[in-house]
Amino acid sequence: MKWIIDTDPGIDDASAIITAVNSGALDILGITTVHGNVGLNHTTRNALKLVELMGADVPVYQGASRPILQKREHAAEYHGEDGFGNTSLAEPETKPQAQHAVDFIIEAANKHELSLLTLGPLTNVALAIAMDRGLEKQIKQIVMMAGTSRARGNTSPLAEFNIFADPEAAAVVFESGIPIIMVPWETCLDTVFGPETIAQIRNSSTQVGKAFAQAMEYSVERTTAYLGTEVLLLCDLLAACAAIDPSVITEQVEARVTVETGGRFSRGLTVIDERMDDGSKPNASIALACDRAKIAKMFLDAINAK
Ligand code: BDR
Ligand code: CA
Repeated sequence: MKWIIDTDPGIDDASAIITAVNSGALDILGITTVHGNVGLNHTTRNALKLVELMGADVPVYQGASRPILQKREHAAEYHGEDGFGNTSLAEPETKPQAQHAVDFIIEAANKHELSLLTLGPLTNVALAIAMDRGLEKQIKQIVMMAGTSRARGNTSPLAEFNIFADPEAAAVVFESGIPIIMVPWETCLDTVFGPETIAQIRNSSTQVGKAFAQAMEYSVERTTAYLGTEVLLLCDLLAACAAIDPSVITEQVEARVTVETGGRFSRGLTVIDERMDDGSKPNASIALACDRAKIAKMFLDAINAK
């Protein structure tokens, strides 16, 4: 099975990309970039730079620069203006592929048995579904970091960033029928890394490990201020680890997930129906708990891989 990583790097996206690529466990056809934490030029640049730092041979395709309907959101306050902790990474030497990310996803889905690992707003995936009628039957599964399981938002009171940044796109993806494994915000909050793991990351001596450790400080500072003790929150990493090894998810529930695209207070909310009393079928498996120790080890092994 082949994989595409759709992403908006992003400090935690970086941890997910490093783990997915350096684990060697996933056959990755390419990385597609999307607007999100910062603008598309920065997310693409960061993806290219990470691939170069790892010395990996993974092409990067640039995707959508804005959401389908609304104005662009960003999360520079948690990722820095450059999306990588304001570390002023050197410009990448490589360039993105000429093909648009959406065309690349469609082509790959028609050629291969394909799964997607999505770490940002779902604009590219929704556009691909809208452009190719049969696509939902071609994509085997989407493992995503997105949404909330208990309506505890991080961008609005009820909505998580990746959904809030393009609710229409998220609605298209959840209605598509593609099987979804969803890692929600609450599970990420329950799976933060403490001082011991942070120190091990600071000790990494590889190129990519050092670059990540530097960028991470920005995030550690903000997350620590938010949660009150020294912690590192790497949401997207959980989804990458679940793609590599589904057993990192230790508790899950099947549900019908609908994205609220209206709502005065609730736009971007993932409405979780576990009862399905109206006869609707589950469209997602929601990760409610993860194995923190296993995930920390997978990440440390990845940043320390030569
Ligand atoms: C998600 O939003 C982004 O800021 C992170 O990269 C992650 O994908 C967390 O809500
Ligand atoms: Ca992300």
